[in-house]
Amino acid sequence: MINRNITPYILGIESSCDDTSAAVVCGTKILSNVIAGQKIHAEYGGVVPELASRAHQQNIIPVVDTALKRAGITKNQIAAIAYTNGPGLLGSLLVGSSFAKGMALGLNIPLIVVDHLQAHVLANFLDTEENKPKPEFPFLCLTVSGGHTQLLMVHDYFNMEILGRTIDDAAGEAFDKAAKILGLTYPGGPIIDKLAQQGNPKRFTFSIAKLPNLNFSFSGLKTSFLYFIRDRLIENPNFIEENLHDLAASIQFHIIKSLTDKMDKALKTYRCTNFVLSGGVAANSELRKKMLELADKYQLRVTIPPLALTTDNAAMIACYGYFKYLRKEFSDLSVMPYSSIDE
Ligand code: KG4
Ligand code: ZN
Repeated sequence: MINRNITPYILGIESSCDDTSAAVVCGTKILSNVIAGQKIHAEYGGVVPELASRAHQQNIIPVVDTALKRAGITKNQIAAIAYTNGPGLLGSLLVGSSFAKGMALGLNIPLIVVDHLQAHVLANFLDTEENKPKPEFPFLCLTVSGGHTQLLMVHDYFNMEILGRTIDDAAGEAFDKAAKILGLTYPGGPIIDKLAQQGNPKRFTFSIAKLPNLNFSFSGLKTSFLYFIRDRLIENPNFIEENLHDLAASIQFHIIKSLTDKMDKALKTYRCTNFVLSGGVAANSELRKKMLELADKYQLRVTIPPLALTTDNAAMIACYGYFKYLRKEFSDLSVMPYSSIDE
């Protein structure tokens, strides 16, 4: 039974990739948001699905326990459990979904399935310490993460139209693969961002995909970068060390240009006054800088969530869960996780 006079406590669970996270929200207020990362993948240069599933198994109980303690509530006060049902790594999703189902069944409370990508968008509706204004519908949203790159027209909380998406690698994946080529650890995005601060973005040129629509492609850029480095290393084995900052700045420039060119194109076609960035790559300083230039050009109000809410976290899952709770959009135990948005 839903009591509309009381703002419900929603427990969110996120386990789609390599972060095990649990959060408690009360409406759009975050009471706790606990994230256990998985350092094990760093030595492999990317997420190893089997290792991720095992780490989720180890982390899920302590992470949920800590989230409840930090929120200052007991499990009996939770009104519903929202969890990521996809897209993501199937083994990882199964850990979170089995846990959520078991807990909801045990507590006899509703179960709410959440789409990971839509939750990234709704991270912008969580209350922040700075009390930033929430975006106004309709708005354009660029979701850029390690697994996904999407340009959306968001009509309301539940109506998100995909205008464009990557046809191969995601933007975060492009950062991570470029970092691997440079011999950097995973996740490479933040490292490239940091190195690039002292580099010349115009020093090296690579090829950027020219798709006619609003879709993105990064695999050609990655190959162009790979071959360029391979050839230079033949001439000079110290080429990477001697040019690391310029290489980081140049590859970052090209990845971000691929994104901002499409954003520019979308803004010319679709009128809107609000633009939102979401996903892990939204933390990138060059993207944020370019976004502000676009904001100036098109007179936009830009919303970017605080850093802790741009990367994978369960607060965004719980937030989406809250909006679904108000609509009584609950699921039964038969619902199965999906790994890709095409399923
Ligand atoms: O949203 P997220 O935490 O997980 C996924 O859903 O994938 O995004 C992680 C991705 C990684 O590829 C990581 O390298 C990238 O976001 N990332 C960055 C930065 N911070 C995180 N990429 C570029 N610059 C950053 N500052
Ligand atoms: Zn994500």
